[in-house]
Amino acid sequence: MCGIVGGVAQRDVVPILVDGLRHLEYRGYDSAGVAVLNESQALKRVRTAGKVRELDELLRKEQLHGMLGIAHTRWATHGKPDTRNAHPHICRGTVAVVHNGIIENHEALRAAQIKAGYEFTSETDTEVIAHQVYDHMMKGDDLLKSVQRATHELDGAYAIGIISKTEPNRLVAARRGSPLVVGVGRGENFIASQAAALITVTQRFIYLEDGDVADITRDAVTIYDASGKRVERPVHISSLTPDAVEKGPYRHYMLKEIFEQPQALADTLTNCLSSNRVLEESFGPKAKDIFDQAQSVLIVACGTSYHAGAVARYWLESIAGIPCVVEIASEFRYRKPVVRPNSLVITISQSGETADTLAALQEAKRLGFGHSLSICNVPESALVRASDLVFLTRAGPEIGVASTKAFTTQLAALMLLTICLGRRRGLSADKEALLVKLLASLPAQVDRVLKLNEQIKTLAERFADKHHALFLGRGTQHPVAMEGALKLKEISYIHAEAYPAGELKHGPLALVDADMPVIAVAPNNELLEKLKSNLQEVRARGGELYVFADETIDVTEGPTVHVVKLPHTDDVLTPIVFTVPLQLLAYHVAVLKGTD
Ligand code: BG6
Repeated sequence: MCGIVGGVAQRDVVPILVDGLRHLEYRGYDSAGVAVLNESQALKRVRTAGKVRELDELLRKEQLHGMLGIAHTRWATHGKPDTRNAHPHICRGTVAVVHNGIIENHEALRAAQIKAGYEFTSETDTEVIAHQVYDHMMKGDDLLKSVQRATHELDGAYAIGIISKTEPNRLVAARRGSPLVVGVGRGENFIASQAAALITVTQRFIYLEDGDVADITRDAVTIYDASGKRVERPVHISSLTPDAVEKGPYRHYMLKEIFEQPQALADTLTNCLSSNRVLEESFGPKAKDIFDQAQSVLIVACGTSYHAGAVARYWLESIAGIPCVVEIASEFRYRKPVVRPNSLVITISQSGETADTLAALQEAKRLGFGHSLSICNVPESALVRASDLVFLTRAGPEIGVASTKAFTTQLAALMLLTICLGRRRGLSADKEALLVKLLASLPAQVDRVLKLNEQIKTLAERFADKHHALFLGRGTQHPVAMEGALKLKEISYIHAEAYPAGELKHGPLALVDADMPVIAVAPNNELLEKLKSNLQEVRARGGELYVFADETIDVTEGPTVHVVKLPHTDDVLTPIVFTVPLQLLAYHVAVLKGTD
């Protein structure tokens, strides 16, 4: 994932830019670069197809310093990962730009710019931004006006930081679709794609809205909306601390965050449960009215957050008795769905900035679905600001790109919601009290599963040389299997697919052999016997089985059947508890394989 840092100050910004890039490194990248206006007012750039550490060495070697600069870590989308394609991109030694996102009309712009005599030195979609801005400057506009004009000519998503050697005390930033924050300092100001990158220099942040262009000098931040009107955006004091974004004793953020789950769950549930009831005010002051009106639920989300929604569908229909549809946000927004008025539209997102989820919410509002609720981990995010109701998961900053603690806390929130909606449809006070008791036991349950870490680490060795894996689950365990497969592919680069176990015989069984490990999640519930027959089908095909099984069920180990016994868990909580060993498995396989 790309990362942006920029700054204008009365001191050398290079160490701040490098430190910011270091805080964004965890997101993965393939090249990095910095551009500054140096002491002689020349625009100087250093880039590398390597790591931020190597960039830092090059910067020291070249003794690059300056009080105005931008920096970037790149994850290649247009053009291969090499130095030439690394950001910043510079037009005619004057304008430098860093960019996150994708410019969809870059080919048309490039053709027009080539015709106008501009030379391209990279294969990126970003370079057209530098030329476009420069072109407007040559026609007489200043940097701010030129960026405003250029952004109207760009299609697609962007967060950009731009500097020009003609305006040494000015950094211009703009966003549409990709997140960007302004870090407000004293006599210095900064930008970053994420607040965490700037936490060592400020705790005061302005979250730019879609379409905003920010004019940033050492002493002022002036923001204009998409129509060019000057607007005020609030300054938020972040509760992030430098400690919260450090790895502590853990080798990787992902492991740290997996182990933080008991605390994250406890924090998320705190203040939401009274002795035997869920306090629906946790969803906001308007929750009662809005929940009363809801006739159905529409959940839209992406990635892991979508999987949380897929689990919740089972809960909302079977426990709360309310119809529920779950959709991948990027499909929903383009699908022309039939409107169900009085739907509660729920967006689920760790970041609250995922462009497709935001756009799906806008589309649902436009079509007239009903009120909206955001289940989100970032209080100041765009989704939170755009929703009628908000439930904040209190997972703390999730630095690891592969979502872990956000997922389990989202599920806890969705169970709270299920109870609130269920009350209106006959969920008894006794049943609610039982569910509340189970929720309160969650942190301890997850803690017990984390004790299996060493056993799972050993098991991971059997996966390191595999190229494919199949995950199976039934009922609420199907989305858990999907989440296990997503974690494995995203982190260890092993191709993995998930199937509802009953679907195995309708095609995927043909793939099963000794080289295709099959991972099954097996809680002790009414689907167990059916799952067991599916596992027999795997064995009959000579497949190697890895079963994460509730300790109370009888699964016989054998040379091709490996069993990890999980502490007994009430069926309703199994999606949360059974996900944890799959996170650990993906993590350890990735470490063994050395994938980035
Ligand atoms: C992806 C991440 O890019 O975004 C996933 O790799 C995540 O882990 C997904 O689930 C959606 O993000 P969010 O912030 O909307 O939950």
